Amino acid sequence: MRIVLVGPPGAGKGTQAVRLAKELGIPHISTGDLFRANISQQTKLGMDAKSYMDRGELVPDAITIGMAKDRMEQPDAEGGFLLDGFPRNVSQAEALDELLTSEGIRLDAVLDLEVPEDEVVKRIAGRRICRNDSSHVFHVTYTPPKKEGVCDVCGGELYQRDDDSEETVRTRLEVYHTQTEPIIDYYKTQGLVVTISALGPVDEITQRALEALKREK
Ligand code: AP5
Ligand code: ZN
Repeated sequence: MRIVLVGPPGAGKGTQAVRLAKELGIPHISTGDLFRANISQQTKLGMDAKSYMDRGELVPDAITIGMAKDRMEQPDAEGGFLLDGFPRNVSQAEALDELLTSEGIRLDAVLDLEVPEDEVVKRIAGRRICRNDSSHVFHVTYTPPKKEGVCDVCGGELYQRDDDSEETVRTRLEVYHTQTEPIIDYYKTQGLVVTISALGPVDEITQRALEALKREK
């Protein structure tokens, strides 16, 4: 399957994407994780992206689209993929459509995670991620690691993301409403949008998502 995951910052996209990708046997492609990996490896792309991310703004399309395209063209993504955090504005959605059309393939679904704003603020405030791999995600009270400050998956150190400060989160939410939400209407015209509530225990949301995606197949 080829799926796009959308939802506000802190909705639980990364948390669900890891589980859904495993269940569906497709790679999880997160542009946020790709940028963070580039930043920790101090690549040029990472350095170019960092100042935008620290401000909570979108990284320019010229950087983002090429990076996402390169990742989607890796052999493991041939049979399908779960996109998390891409596309994030209408021009990225159009670029993705062009790429898929040129390869004679199409998206199967756009899974929209719905969470009230006060809940995403709480989720982001308590989020801790792993230094080794930013897809290893925990929450100090909702989904705590077994040992405080230590990643359950790889033993890495957990820390708070630079862009999780209160001020940056406000900008990210605004950017979501003005630039990302319009892609939901864009995909609605293609009949691809499936909206589920992303409130409740993590495993229940995964089941809800899998049921909703099954209906789309
Ligand atoms: P990105 O990394 O994509 O961040 P985001 O969209 O803001 O999403 P988050 O990672 O904040 O949240 P999430 O929905 O994945 O939630 P999570 O699972 O962690 O992007 C970061 C930046 O990179 C952007 O601001 C931009 O600058 C740049 N960027 C990325 N893609 C781009 C693009 N395409 N174009 C341009 N720029 C781009 O969960 C949150 C917390 O809640 C965790 O602590 C988790 O443990 C907890 N939690 C999860 N589920 C539950 C639950 N059910 N109940 C209780 N707690 C839960
Ligand atoms: Zn880890």
